[in-house]
Amino acid sequence: MRFDTTQLAGLPTPSYVYDKTLLAETLAAIKSQTRDNADYHVHYAIKANDNPDILATIAREGFGADCVSGGEIRAALDAGFAASDIAFAGVGKADWEIRLALDAGIGMFNVESREELEVISHLAAEAQTEARVSLRINPDVEASTHAHITTGRAENKFGIAYEEMIPTIRLASQLPNITCVGLHFHIGSQLLDMSDFEALCHRINELQELMDEQGISLGNINVGGGLGVDYTEPDGHPIADFAAYFATFRDHLLLRPGQQLHFELGRAIVAQMGSLLTRVLYVKHTSAKDFVILDAGMTELIRPALYGALHKIENISAAERNDAVPSHSYDVVGPICESSDVFARDYALPRTERGDLFLLRSAGAYGQTMASTYNHRPLPQVFML
Ligand code: LLP
Repeated sequence: MRFDTTQLAGLPTPSYVYDKTLLAETLAAIKSQTRDNADYHVHYAIKANDNPDILATIAREGFGADCVSGGEIRAALDAGFAASDIAFAGVGKADWEIRLALDAGIGMFNVESREELEVISHLAAEAQTEARVSLRINPDVEASTHAHITTGRAENKFGIAYEEMIPTIRLASQLPNITCVGLHFHIGSQLLDMSDFEALCHRINELQELMDEQGISLGNINVGGGLGVDYTEPDGHPIADFAAYFATFRDHLLLRPGQQLHFELGRAIVAQMGSLLTRVLYVKHTSAKDFVILDAGMTELIRPALYGALHKIENISAAERNDAVPSHSYDVVGPICESSDVFARDYALPRTERGDLFLLRSAGAYGQTMASTYNHRPLPQVFML
């Protein structure tokens, strides 16, 4: 925890607090790992956190953007990302979003089906422009993560079956106003086992051989995102293992001469710089359990309710009282009228009182962006510290 407790005590709750310094250090770590590879391009996956200050910081550092909606494309342009560095992904792009992307002149569409390819061709012809597309191929690679966030299996809704790759490239080359510039992949999120990315590399190598046999060459390979972070010990590992991640691709992916390699990292860039700041409303004692009831709930941070995710919980007021001993066991819950509104069960914490200030750690990615106004609650405020 690098925030100053007195400063936090003056902020309203619930709110998100973002550590600018850690964000800068994380971006520097990525740049130091990719510096020697001019052909590596990292696009930030805006869905992880679309705060305008964060977007502007990432854009200033020269990263591209990975967008999944018209709104995200607008946010990326407003934040200063170059249109040519924007990739537009998503299994269901609406016509207005495709038109917006064409008008802006984005770098490439990641196309998920033949049907979408035909619609983009039609809309590009109407706009008298050329759409640069990458085909999202479903690599049918198993990734060791939560079932809701694995995306690269054949039964997922994402991408074009890899057996269909060659015919779809041929279709793309015949369609008017379409230039097929690459292949796109994404196998899942919160991946910590590099062998998952290695398996993706092997699949891409096979597919590239198939293309060689057919005399097809494409300039771009996009391997998506997915690098995970340490939710258990955020202070032990504030920066994701970018060295191991990029080395996996360097060592296992066989790029063709001149081929550009694109990455779409979200979580690994922003998760650790964010915490959800919240106050204890009640400590409720029952015969079965003791509950800590916070003023933040699944409306501010839905990951525990949705994926069973665990965010490290810290009672920073107890720490101020010099009580750091996790002597009590509590169910830490939110105020929402849903039994799934639980952050952690039987969680060991110092003795906790009404009014104590808590931090839910590693909440910079998919926290604020997934917040809702359920129960007519206001959206959480944000503080960049
Ligand atoms: N590229 C594509 C095509 C994606 O679908 C995703 C994430 C990313 C890149 C960025 O992945 P990252 O580097 O952040 O793992 N809400 C969930 C995560 C959903 C991820 C969706 N796709 C969560 O809170 O864990």
